[in-house]
Amino acid sequence: MGKKITIAIDGPAASGKSTTAKILADKLNYIYIDTGAMYRAATLAVLDQQIDVNDEKLVIEGVENSEIELKTGNRTFLNGRDVSHEIRAPRINEVISIISSYPQVRKRMVQLQQAMAKQGGVVMDGRDIGTVVLPNADLKVFMVASLNQRAERRLKELDQRGEKISLDAVKAEIANRDKLDSSRAASPLKKASDARELDTSNLSIEDQVRIIEGWTAEIIN
Ligand code: DC
Repeated sequence: MGKKITIAIDGPAASGKSTTAKILADKLNYIYIDTGAMYRAATLAVLDQQIDVNDEKLVIEGVENSEIELKTGNRTFLNGRDVSHEIRAPRINEVISIISSYPQVRKRMVQLQQAMAKQGGVVMDGRDIGTVVLPNADLKVFMVASLNQRAERRLKELDQRGEKISLDAVKAEIANRDKLDSSRAASPLKKASDARELDTSNLSIEDQVRIIEGWTAEIIN
């Protein structure tokens, strides 16, 4: 295989981005960058400091005072503490769309993300990767799936964590987050004009990875 490319994967909540991106990165021997984890750590930083999430100025200060790092093995660190598990808790999901709607918060995250992707050989997933973070990515994928499918997948994930929540509640949470993420003024969730759409509603993880691997091979070879 030739050069190491950059791959941007965007899509709504629970569309299968991170699972697919992780496997793909492992197979290609690329670095996987989970930008959602960074917004999650920023949200945790705000909650830990007991900042009112609606106070934009204080939120920005709270995020700027915090050190967010992604380390090997897909671990997320906040001020040197491994918060990989904590950032997936429902209390983060409840307010993350507010925190990630603030342009200054986004600006800081985008700077960190662009620095991490500089050397190429990365698979990065999020909401604004193909449009804002890596507008020149070699391959852009926009993953979609029906709300039902996404809610079922998220429910399974939460169940494995021991969180008891109903399918309807998961559906409502995901639908609400999609609405907020797509309608915010600052870099909303949007398919880049040059992104390839992948509907994963009826695909297995293996199929999803295989399809993107094929697209990658077209570009590399
Ligand atoms: O991918 P995820 O579900 O872990 O993302 C959590 C939230 O973070 C998502 O609802 C919106 C925000 N996010 C964002 O605004 N931009 C990104 N690039 C990634 C995530």
